[in-house]
Amino acid sequence: MRFPAFAAITALIVSGCTAEDLPSQERVIAPVLTSEQAMDEFTYARPLEARVTHVALDLDLDFEGARVEGTATLDVQSAEDATEIVLDSDGLIIGGITDGNGNDLDYTIGESDPDKGEPITVQLGEMTGPELQQIVISYASGPEAEALQWLSPEQTAGGEHPFVFSQGQAILNRSWIPTQDSPGIRQTWEARITAPDPLTVVMSGISRGDPEMLDEVEGESTRRAFEFVMDNSIPPYLIAIAAGNLEFAELGPRSGVWAEPAQIEAAAEELSDTEAMIDAAEGLYGSYRWGRYDMIVLPPAFPYGGMENPVMTFLTPTFIAGDRSNTGLIAHELAHSWSGNLVTYASWRDGWLNEGVTSYLTARISEEVFGETRVMQERALEYAGVMEALESLGEDNPRTALRTPDELNPLEYSSAIVYDKGALFLHTMESIIGREQFDDFMRGWFDRHAFQPATSEMFLADLREYVIQDDSELEESLMLDEWIYGTGLPENAAQPDPEAFAAVDGAVEAYGTDGTMPATDTWAGWSAFEQRRFLEELPDELSDEQLAALNETLGLSETGNNEVLFLWLEAALRNEYDPAVPQAEEFLGRVGRNKFVEPLFEALWGTGAWGEPIATRIYDETRGGYHSYTRSQVDPIVGYMADGTGR
Ligand code: BES
Ligand code: ZN
Repeated sequence: MRFPAFAAITALIVSGCTAEDLPSQERVIAPVLTSEQAMDEFTYARPLEARVTHVALDLDLDFEGARVEGTATLDVQSAEDATEIVLDSDGLIIGGITDGNGNDLDYTIGESDPDKGEPITVQLGEMTGPELQQIVISYASGPEAEALQWLSPEQTAGGEHPFVFSQGQAILNRSWIPTQDSPGIRQTWEARITAPDPLTVVMSGISRGDPEMLDEVEGESTRRAFEFVMDNSIPPYLIAIAAGNLEFAELGPRSGVWAEPAQIEAAAEELSDTEAMIDAAEGLYGSYRWGRYDMIVLPPAFPYGGMENPVMTFLTPTFIAGDRSNTGLIAHELAHSWSGNLVTYASWRDGWLNEGVTSYLTARISEEVFGETRVMQERALEYAGVMEALESLGEDNPRTALRTPDELNPLEYSSAIVYDKGALFLHTMESIIGREQFDDFMRGWFDRHAFQPATSEMFLADLREYVIQDDSELEESLMLDEWIYGTGLPENAAQPDPEAFAAVDGAVEAYGTDGTMPATDTWAGWSAFEQRRFLEELPDELSDEQLAALNETLGLSETGNNEVLFLWLEAALRNEYDPAVPQAEEFLGRVGRNKFVEPLFEALWGTGAWGEPIATRIYDETRGGYHSYTRSQVDPIVGYMADGTGR
């Protein structure tokens, strides 16, 4: 079954119903790609038969019940001969489904798969064809909704109010939104969300003005309703929500930050380079097309460093170091406003198109804002990351290809490959093609495919059409197919500057040779990147005496930079260093960022008899405070049974 005139349908433009105070915008329906390489194996949707184009949410945040409840109204477009539309769900509790006029529609809920969740198949009856139809789903999120993390007041900085946030990427949003949850099925959306006063709700859409105070209902706290709209079509993993006791600080004409009152000042201070980064990115890749660029600093349970939710980047509080040394994270999430959010991989197999391209853009933005030295260092770390991954995975390992092969689960990627090898591919192209021409090409890539899904094949086709043309010598020197489909590292890979860490590498060598440590002042004069390089290059095995001396001279356990603290704790735990255990325990109880939590449990567990009981004891305490993603990564390391049996 196919749309008879698919192109004609997808060109259809529907006028949007935006708030009166917003400039009216037209909602453009983004086409779904039909190529084999664009197919997403993690959705039940069959978008060529019937697809969602717009989602309107009307939900209450129920903190006592730890669930969202309300309706989702979906705009649906279908082929003439379609009979049903298939949506993704993961544990949603469906109350009923009607058409736009309130007439019941028949639906079935299929069997659940541990990864994908379950399909909801809705009978469309007479409502088929290119004209938009509406279906209204009454529902609530289930008790284990993986996208949502409900925090008790104790898990927040202020300690007085509850908090909730969502994390949609990769396939978690189907646990709170019944839609077609696939990156190639772009949708516009709007939402009306109620929350108990005084909590503030933010979303990855433009706010429609001040919240509306709702009438007091007997026995219930007063509630407020917040409205949001996103008129640019986006992949549904980018719909995001957070609510808590939040304050706002303006950073510049189009940027600002939300955080709990206790953190707003430090957050605003740390983020003061934001406008400069937006300007730099625009100078390189064309205008920022999303209106505002706001951020929210979440409680430390947030499982990632950052998440590029449009107009509202979500951030871990652990990036705050007091000296802006971790703000490469902001450059990264901002860069996704072009790579990932504007042009998005159609399937999870092309992870590099989002994350590798973003890592390259991050370096370019950082170079503009922070100068060349820092970027030279970032690139050296990136190269070292690729080499380390190739060594541990093996050069022939199919996991080292950028385009994930069909037989592998693309959600279980190696970030050194997707991020670092991906970025290295772009650095290599830049060095061969020349910066100016390559920048033109990238700007053109974002323009040509703005608000549309993309694949590796489309990227290659564009390169051949706009850059290589018929230059066979250039084609040969780029080694494009080796980069995308091949394993290992193509021989034309751009090399990092060997001088990037000259001072640090000398110190590492001196330490390895005769135990000479950097002087306290030298260490303090190093950038956070340099300190990280030193700690990463330390010998794997260190004695108690060595660890004690390093800590004493370099003040490692006192550092205000969580990246540095993490590397210290990791080195200490893998070497069974008892004095570090209390601090590790405190850190693991406070921070849920998987990048830190998973390796620390791995380090403990890896020691065997020493660390296993410590890991077990700490995890039993801290697991309840971790996001489902972090739990899913640590459970197998420490032998925790997630099926309810525990251990
Ligand atoms: N989009 C990612 C986070 C992500 C990736 C969530 C895959 C779920 C599945 C985000 O942009 C990211 O890369 N975050 C990094 C930032 C770092 C590379 C600067 C992180 O959280 O560590
Ligand atoms: Zn990213």
